[in-house]
Amino acid sequence: MITLQENVDLTSLNTFGIQSTARYFTIIQNPNQLKALLEHKITRSYPKLVLGGGSNVLFTKNIFEGIVIKNEIKGIEKVREEEGRVWLKVGAGEAWHDFVMYCVQHDFGGVENLSLIPGSVGAAPMQNIGAYGVEVKDVIESVSVFDFTSATFLEIKKDDCHFGYRESIFKQEGRNRYFITHVTFKLSKKNHVYNTEYGAIKDILTKMNISELSLKAVSDAVIAIRKSKLPDPVQIGNAGSFFKNPTIPLHLYQKLKEVHAAMPMYPVDNTHVKVPAGWLIEQCGWKGKTIGNIGVHAHQALVLVNYGGGDGQKIFELATAVQQSVQEKFGIALQMEVNII
Ligand code: FAD
Ligand code: EPU
Repeated sequence: MITLQENVDLTSLNTFGIQSTARYFTIIQNPNQLKALLEHKITRSYPKLVLGGGSNVLFTKNIFEGIVIKNEIKGIEKVREEEGRVWLKVGAGEAWHDFVMYCVQHDFGGVENLSLIPGSVGAAPMQNIGAYGVEVKDVIESVSVFDFTSATFLEIKKDDCHFGYRESIFKQEGRNRYFITHVTFKLSKKNHVYNTEYGAIKDILTKMNISELSLKAVSDAVIAIRKSKLPDPVQIGNAGSFFKNPTIPLHLYQKLKEVHAAMPMYPVDNTHVKVPAGWLIEQCGWKGKTIGNIGVHAHQALVLVNYGGGDGQKIFELATAVQQSVQEKFGIALQMEVNII
């Protein structure tokens, strides 16, 4: 049995805090409801939008003329265990950070660097969430989905997910086709490999006087860094980084560096480097700029913000203006990371 609500306000269901209305809305708590949903005549004639925590979407229209399907499938199940390793199958509607805390408490290693990322477990494979030297693909074994096209449940192995930097099959051809119901993670139970290469983590651990590394210590350090850098969506509406960090050819970087001596970069391979988009945007003078009740965050130029009552279309226009100025000044095309609805 499936119930579709009509004209549901989405303001509290997206971390940007944008006012928009779902023409139809339903909550899925059990994967079997998905078949019933697909058989509903309204589902067949309207576009679908799967929604988790709403922390990576920008609603640009007053009304979404389709069905918003809110994912609330819960549960953490141990599906396999071996010497030193454990496999957990996790309901896509679990909150990502709560899952990370569960792992830290049970001494399961692999997700601690991804502490405090907002949103749901089910959205994590969508853009292959990443932070502080780790991407979620590093610990994913498989992703369980309901395929709206064939009305079947599938298990997609990691290699078939086409994971890349903030990319996956779910963001491309699988978008709004695959409803992710569960994610299976492969985690370490002992001899954890700690990833503290990201400079700021080491600094914080030293300040915290940590002599022996633990999952909790790494998680605490990441949480401290994130709290100092990123705006809390409860206080200021935002969706994290609005753009991806662009990868450019090394020869272009060398040419730009002649004019912009301070331009930072991270090596990607022998012929490409990644440039922090936050730096490019700051150089174009956008950092801290406010236009009415929206703007570019004062401490992190990669984050666009809604100070309250902001309009999604206006934020999209601001993002487009930022892209244009980076293109004009540096000849670099910024790609939006946030999903524009
Ligand atoms: P939503 O915003 O609800 O959805 C995002 C997209 O995924 C939509 O297109 C939606 O249709 C699709 N989707 C959601 N659930 C499913 C599902 N079950 N099946 C199929 N498709 C689905 N991201 C990072 O990678 N690294 C960071 O460090 C980071 N920091 C952030 C900090 C802040 C303050 C904020 C606000 C965001 C940050 N993000 C970061 C972005 C965001 O938290 C992640 O992208 C997160 O995975 C989104 O989860 P969600 O459940 O909120 O997804
Ligand atoms: N910088 C500036 N000005 C700014 C912001 C950044 O010059 O206003 C430059 C600095 O040189 C700084 C560098 O950018 O050293 C990197 O900044 P930061 O460490 O804050 O990371 P980021 O590249 O801006 C990325 C991810 C974040 C992730 C952090 C930590 C992307 C698009 N963003 O941000 O992910 O948390 O690294 O790993 O890759 C997200 O995806 O929503 C997100 C927040």
